[in-house]
Amino acid sequence: MKTAELNIESVRKDFPILRQLMNGRPLVYLDNGATAQKPLQVLKAIEKFYKEQNANIHRGVHLLSQEATVAYEKARETVQKHINAAHPHEIIFTSGTTESVNLVAHTFAKKFLEKGDEILITEMEHHSNILPWQVACEEKGAVLKVAPVNDKGELIISEYEKLLTPKTKIVAIAHVSNTLGTINPVQEMIQAAHEKGIPVLIDGAQAIPHMKVDVRWLDADFYCFSGHKVFGPTGIGVLYGKEEWLNKLPNYKVGGGTIRTVTFKETEYGGLPIRFEAGTPNIDGVIGMAAALDYINGISMDAIHAYEHELLVYATERISGIKGVRIIGTAAEKAGVLSFVVEGMHPLDIGMLLDAQGVAVRTGHHCTQPLMERFKINGTVRASLAFYNTKEEIDVFAVALIKALQRL
Ligand code: ALA
Repeated sequence: MKTAELNIESVRKDFPILRQLMNGRPLVYLDNGATAQKPLQVLKAIEKFYKEQNANIHRGVHLLSQEATVAYEKARETVQKHINAAHPHEIIFTSGTTESVNLVAHTFAKKFLEKGDEILITEMEHHSNILPWQVACEEKGAVLKVAPVNDKGELIISEYEKLLTPKTKIVAIAHVSNTLGTINPVQEMIQAAHEKGIPVLIDGAQAIPHMKVDVRWLDADFYCFSGHKVFGPTGIGVLYGKEEWLNKLPNYKVGGGTIRTVTFKETEYGGLPIRFEAGTPNIDGVIGMAAALDYINGISMDAIHAYEHELLVYATERISGIKGVRIIGTAAEKAGVLSFVVEGMHPLDIGMLLDAQGVAVRTGHHCTQPLMERFKINGTVRASLAFYNTKEEIDVFAVALIKALQRL
């Protein structure tokens, strides 16, 4: 079956921010891995919420509150369907991937982790999928094990499998590396862990904007992502957990909205998902994120994936052909990210020289310092793509980079 094609002209009209000038030049936004731009459809959904639906949810008998509650719970179903979760109550709204990982690391460790146990992560994890596990290990006297990557930035699967031992209590892996763009074979990695009875958390922050994710096909026990990287608002994210796992985890934050009855002696807590959503939630964030998912599904994730793949291949050819450039992250399977270094030039200087020409990229360690150590570099220049980027923009980027390397 032929993949649906993406109508780039029509898509770009939905993102008014892309029409701006930066430093007097048309903006070429290649920092989508840090945060993605928002289409008008998301902005309109948030405006509609505040103009027509704003009230607190799950608390009011009045009609407006009931309407807000319906909109919020409908958004949960949108997320459920987007990732093919079995039930809406397996979707927990958090402030983002970081909070989702913290929630699982904290509660899992409290209940299941003991001295001498092991937690397995990989060398390419973002700090947000390292530090919560490091803290859990420190608190419980457990050991953090790290599966290594090869020189291309691919995970060494045989080493990963060796590190799955009877002591391993949980595995936490990035679906896509934010620094290298490597797509990890998470389905096989989950299967290998499950064969030994070990649950797996997937950090999907950098996968969800680029590809179809099916948590049931993956058989992920937990899957985390952020709204702002998938064209929704900041401050909202998702923790998907299998019902059986979420029910096993103890409380995280508690407060209004999480309970059935409270007395000063004892509290009876509610079920899923409200037990993990203390306080008034980020209602407009949830609604905006659901609008973003509706928007990308309207385009089709297959079309987005195919278009971005073509763009990444084109960008890799253009940029790797520039004298002095060394690409960091040359895995066979990659999504959305082109990281590189240039001998004798600091990434920060390159980033500033590109910015002067309207090209926005991220520079530095990208919150993956251990990975920088692995490649013996202090940072990279990272161009990260979205489906609204074009080959023409890649050409502008390539010319701007050549000028930057000549110090303009
Ligand atoms: N984690 C985000 C990035 O990779 C902020 O840029």
